[in-house]
Amino acid sequence: MERVWWKEAVVYQIYPRSFQDSNGDGIGDIKGITSRMGYLKELGIDVIWLSPVYESPNDDNGYDISDYRAIMKEFGTMADFDEMLNAAHENGIRLVMDLVVNHTSDEHPWFVESRRSKDNPYRDYYIWRDPENGKEPNNWGSCFSGSAWQYDKNTEMYYLHLFSKKQPDLNWDNPRVREEVFDMMNWWLDKGVDGFRMDVISLISKNPEFPDGVPGINGYASFNEPANGPHVHEYLREMRKKVLDHADTLTVGECSGVTLEEAKKYAASDNSELNMVFQFEHMDVDADGDNKWTDKKMDLRDMKAVLTKWQKGLEGVAWNSLFWQNHDQPRCVSRYADDGTYRERSAKMLATCLHMMQGTPYIYQGEELGMTNVPFASIDDFRDLDSINAYHELVEEQSIFSEEEMLHYLRYKSRDNARTPFQWDDTENAGFTSGTPWIMVNPNYKEINAMEQLEREDSVFNYYKKLIRLRKENPVIVYGSYNLIFPESEEIFAYTRTLDREKLLVLCNYSDTEQHVERPELFAESRCMISNCDVQTQENTVILPPYAAVVYYIEE
Ligand code: GLC
Ligand code: CA
Repeated sequence: MERVWWKEAVVYQIYPRSFQDSNGDGIGDIKGITSRMGYLKELGIDVIWLSPVYESPNDDNGYDISDYRAIMKEFGTMADFDEMLNAAHENGIRLVMDLVVNHTSDEHPWFVESRRSKDNPYRDYYIWRDPENGKEPNNWGSCFSGSAWQYDKNTEMYYLHLFSKKQPDLNWDNPRVREEVFDMMNWWLDKGVDGFRMDVISLISKNPEFPDGVPGINGYASFNEPANGPHVHEYLREMRKKVLDHADTLTVGECSGVTLEEAKKYAASDNSELNMVFQFEHMDVDADGDNKWTDKKMDLRDMKAVLTKWQKGLEGVAWNSLFWQNHDQPRCVSRYADDGTYRERSAKMLATCLHMMQGTPYIYQGEELGMTNVPFASIDDFRDLDSINAYHELVEEQSIFSEEEMLHYLRYKSRDNARTPFQWDDTENAGFTSGTPWIMVNPNYKEINAMEQLEREDSVFNYYKKLIRLRKENPVIVYGSYNLIFPESEEIFAYTRTLDREKLLVLCNYSDTEQHVERPELFAESRCMISNCDVQTQENTVILPPYAAVVYYIEE
């Protein structure tokens, strides 16, 4: 297996709006990020993935871009950006931009032109269709509720938006669109950025027949309907030649709806497309079919089956990215473990389980503190359009859920759980801002904050720091092959890693009760590399307290 830096790296995702405010307007900004570079260096991460900072009307917090070569005013200036990039590089940290090119904002000049007339030179930059029997061209749904088609009175046609109606989809079949995107990417690479996380890149190529899909609970087909379209690999190969081959980059494609077979193409180790993909199957094990609004708990056996499928399936032919959360997912400690009595221990257990797998780990801001979901009191506390639209659609328009039910599901699954301000210290607003934060601060910041954890040796922060350091010192963590053991266990996630003579045994207890595990003979003489609590062994039986995690190492 080829050894390269982006396989050995740990990536840290920053959601700028919620990281650090520098000027008291309640909104995180670029100067704020620069001021916290020392914190990131201390943690030991190698790469920052920066959620969008481009000019945007903020319908979807920057994922709706109106100018790809300008910085959002609320976040600062291009000079601030250059300063941040420099500060990152000086600290040995690379910076990867979020590339949002499945769609633009409807306020982008291309769309402003496109909607003017049918013969406008920019018309074909977007996807326009005539009505079908006076209605939408097909039953595709938007990711954010309702139809994916918006009627435009001016030319009496519909445009496609797989996300909000302020996020019209670009027409990638138009070679001019591709050239514009490639030019813009080269412009950022010339500035010195180190790669791209590609937003919903699996959706860029649409089936020209626009076939109907299977309707979900709100009557529309999933926004994933067009995933892995007919030309997506061709377009990414073109991008590789015209852009990515000219620089040493990290590229990761957000590939909603990706299958294992497709991922082998997107992330093929011959480097013809991207370095790695984000797949989402393990985020769906606690969904109710296509409906994420449920409080169903995951069955650990399903989680193990999915992650093992990806570990084994990509081994040697492509590369995995490893994540429990991002800005679109609730807090992992609340979702998959215990955010009460065993919050710290279970946060460390999840981290161990993920960081010891094969792939590049991603940490989402605050995960390294064990930050939790948020006790939002009413719909007015939410800012995310996905959550707000779903509430209106499912409660008010379609009466599928009661108000209380929906609030309960939102508290469990809303993206806003991940978007409340980073908890720096126990001063007002968690040290995030001296003004009024754009979204509420989680009231638990007095107990859960970075300041307290930096100083305490057994904190979640210091545990993440150790995991990151171990990865640098032990190639088996990066390159070892993975094998699941005890697949039937409902409580224990256990696997081995093997690289030549080095072997790891990873044992994670996902339950709140003590578990006994028979340690494979091979590990009888092994030493403990890391554990999140005191784990005893009796002969070859390992006694795992609630939410314990332990990694044994042996060199044969
Ligand atoms: C991706 C982003 C998400 C955004 C959507 C539309 O899924 O991660 O935050 O809303 O794409 O750009
Ligand atoms: Ca600010």
